[in-house]
Amino acid sequence: MTQSITISSTSATDFSNAVVNWYHKQGRKHLPWQQNKTPYRVWISEIMLQQTQVATVIPFYQRFMESFPNITALANAEQDLVLHHWTGLGYYARARNLHKAAQIMRDEYNGEFPQHIEQVIALPGIGRSTAGAILSLALKQHHPILDGNVKRVLSRHYMVEGYNGQSKYEKTLWPIAEVLTPAKHVDAFNQAMMDLGATLCTRSKPDCPHCPITTTCLANASNEQQHFPQKKPKKKVPERSVTMLVLKQGEKILMIKRPPSGIWGGLYGFPETKTIDNIDNELIELGVKAIEQRTLTAFRHTFSHFHLDITPILIECQPKQHELRISESESHLWYNIASRDTVGLAAASCKILDEVRELYHALT
Ligand code: ADE
Repeated sequence: MTQSITISSTSATDFSNAVVNWYHKQGRKHLPWQQNKTPYRVWISEIMLQQTQVATVIPFYQRFMESFPNITALANAEQDLVLHHWTGLGYYARARNLHKAAQIMRDEYNGEFPQHIEQVIALPGIGRSTAGAILSLALKQHHPILDGNVKRVLSRHYMVEGYNGQSKYEKTLWPIAEVLTPAKHVDAFNQAMMDLGATLCTRSKPDCPHCPITTTCLANASNEQQHFPQKKPKKKVPERSVTMLVLKQGEKILMIKRPPSGIWGGLYGFPETKTIDNIDNELIELGVKAIEQRTLTAFRHTFSHFHLDITPILIECQPKQHELRISESESHLWYNIASRDTVGLAAASCKILDEVRELYHALT
């Protein structure tokens, strides 16, 4: 059963006026994607801002825009280069979807960003809230939004029960967002709602005294902010382990392009084995002769749906590359640790490469 919440048009207007006024006084207006607003520029920022804080996003956004200033430039770029610009941001499906969506716009929309919300939602990686944010922020179209921050603000204000990802929770919140979204200043309102959630109505320590809607907030009135939204029931996250073989020849490390789907899809990674006992067989298969072998620092990388325990083994190979069976190809790269080739790397691979660089510099 969805909760039924009634909001009069007067209280909706009071709510949106308070939020818009707060935006004019306190909202962020000087972020890079708020200048020369176009659907393309806002789209890239919205995707980067999913699961990533504003301060982290800014340098990534600026580098991305310099390399891919428009839809066609992004569509025509090599996927490796797009993933390279995402290295460090995580959730790489976001970058693969951006690239695919740009190609659809190039091929089906003359390289323009589509302007009907249904067309935008049909693009890979764009849901209803992101589509609403792009079209409202860039073109002032009248659409509600409901990202994680906005959900928290609304769930506290109206004491909506439920948790992120639960369908009854979303089904209750969307009509509330629709009723509150004003006809005028929709861009200021939507931006303000996201900023409120990110800066004042935070998960653990909401700054209620500075919030423009504190006097009508039901959770604040009963001091129950911490109960909204409810915590998602925890599932036990499975654990997996993998041994990564860091095959090194001088300054070069063998990296293999991962399949397009699955974890780290399309990124370059190290050859892997399930267990340490299997290393010798793996080396024979790769046609590599080891001169020296040492275990690097083992660590855990946590994905949204499982923990991966990684043991990297550094293996110095025989020095002449022509003695190896592996030559460079579309899928195999002898990655230069000094010059850093432009390919996409997962954060876990970067961490391992940093340790190799440190060791290498200590020894040379
Ligand atoms: N999170 C997602 N989109 C955002 C935006 N436009 N401003 C601030 N935080 C956001």
